[in-house]
Amino acid sequence: MQRPAETTKPALGVGMVGYAFMGAAHSQGWRTVGRVFDLPLRPAMAAICGRDPDAVRAAAEKHGWAAAETDWRALIARDDVQLVDICTPGDSHAEIAIAALEAGKHVLCEKPLANSVAEAEAMVEAARRARERGQIAMVGFNYRRTPAIAHARRMVRDGRLGVLRHVRVSYLQDWIVDPEFPLVWRLRREHAGSGALGDLGAHIVDLAQYLAGEPLVGVSALTETFVRERPLPAGTATTGLGGQAGGAARGPVTVDDAALFSGRMASGALASFEATRFAAGRKNALRIELNGERGSLAFDLERLNELHFHDHTEPATDAGFRRILVTEPEHPYLEAWWPAGHALGYEHTFVHQARDLVLAIDARTEPEPSFADGLQVQRVLAAVEESAEKNCVYTPVPA
Ligand SMILES: NC(=O)c1ccc[n+]([C@@H]2O[C@H](COP(=O)([O-])OP(=O)(O)OC[C@H]3O[C@@H](n4cnc5c(N)ncnc54)[C@H](O)[C@@H]3O)[C@@H](O)[C@H]2O)c1
Repeated sequence: MQRPAETTKPALGVGMVGYAFMGAAHSQGWRTVGRVFDLPLRPAMAAICGRDPDAVRAAAEKHGWAAAETDWRALIARDDVQLVDICTPGDSHAEIAIAALEAGKHVLCEKPLANSVAEAEAMVEAARRARERGQIAMVGFNYRRTPAIAHARRMVRDGRLGVLRHVRVSYLQDWIVDPEFPLVWRLRREHAGSGALGDLGAHIVDLAQYLAGEPLVGVSALTETFVRERPLPAGTATTGLGGQAGGAARGPVTVDDAALFSGRMASGALASFEATRFAAGRKNALRIELNGERGSLAFDLERLNELHFHDHTEPATDAGFRRILVTEPEHPYLEAWWPAGHALGYEHTFVHQARDLVLAIDARTEPEPSFADGLQVQRVLAAVEESAEKNCVYTPVPA
């Protein structure tokens, strides 16, 4: 049998750091994107990096990477890597991203962009310098790439909601309800920056601002750490949302378990946010509702192919929320997938993220969300923490 002709498209060598939860999700994106979307560049999974030599080789094999490295500096230095994809905890985002940008590489960095505003500012400055050399830096707010969310953005932009009055968002999980769940990196400030706030809150702040098409200008917040001490984990391995206690030794939880805040958008619309890891029974429940003068939109990540729209300009006798099944070829990203009605899932957001980044790299256009967008979210998170420290005092978000 004849082998298919090799593609003549120029390769875009990808090097990824971290290979656990997000590493697996991003690998899925890079493996799939060029086989679904017709791209001007051919993403090549050049090398993956982790600290444990055996584990990183096994991860390379499992996820389809050509080579394995144990030092991210060596990964960045490789000639076959043009794009560095950062899937490590927040404590290493700034150092890796800045080094990669200074070495002339494009960067995709997981959210939240950094562990502090100062780090995020340094990353934006590095991205600005790199942009002058034609490099691209994007932050991984993948939920923007859910077709129903992208379609909701289009509807808001097209004026289907009219003047926006309310943005209502919650992101609920329950993986640390058990007080004996171990003290994994996500529960330690030095690794994660903050808790439910930076992890879940960052996503919903980004989504609220993206959908509304405007920034938050101030917040009033409460945060709480319900379980203040936990058993130390077994070993040092980081494991996404999982983990096992190592023994009797315990340590302090140094981040929030939950964050509850309200905010004012630039237009005067009011927004409310809830991010928690203590909503027993809620696994990954991200819900959004927008209310405007002309109508409302509602989305639930657990039914991610659907969008609910109420057209308030219709006669009250006929109006009401109706379900839009976002699987038509005219919907965002759907032209490359299956016939209408054949649903997509969580992992497709990472394929779409890879697509958008490759297109931005090829066209040399500013990607969305950029590092500057990531910094703006970081400023909101910092304002939330400041407000919570002052017991809910309204705190402006610096422009
Ligand atoms: N976009 C999303 O929906 C989403 C979901 C989960 C996590 N995240 C973000 O992704 C990032 C990683 O989270 P995760 O859940 O994949 O964590 P994880 O614990 O599952 O994996 C972290 C990986 O980073 C590696 N690592 C840590 N420090 C390293 C270093 N110095 N050099 C090389 N490798 C190193 C670990 O060995 C591990 O492979 C975080 O910033 C997190 O907030 C985003």
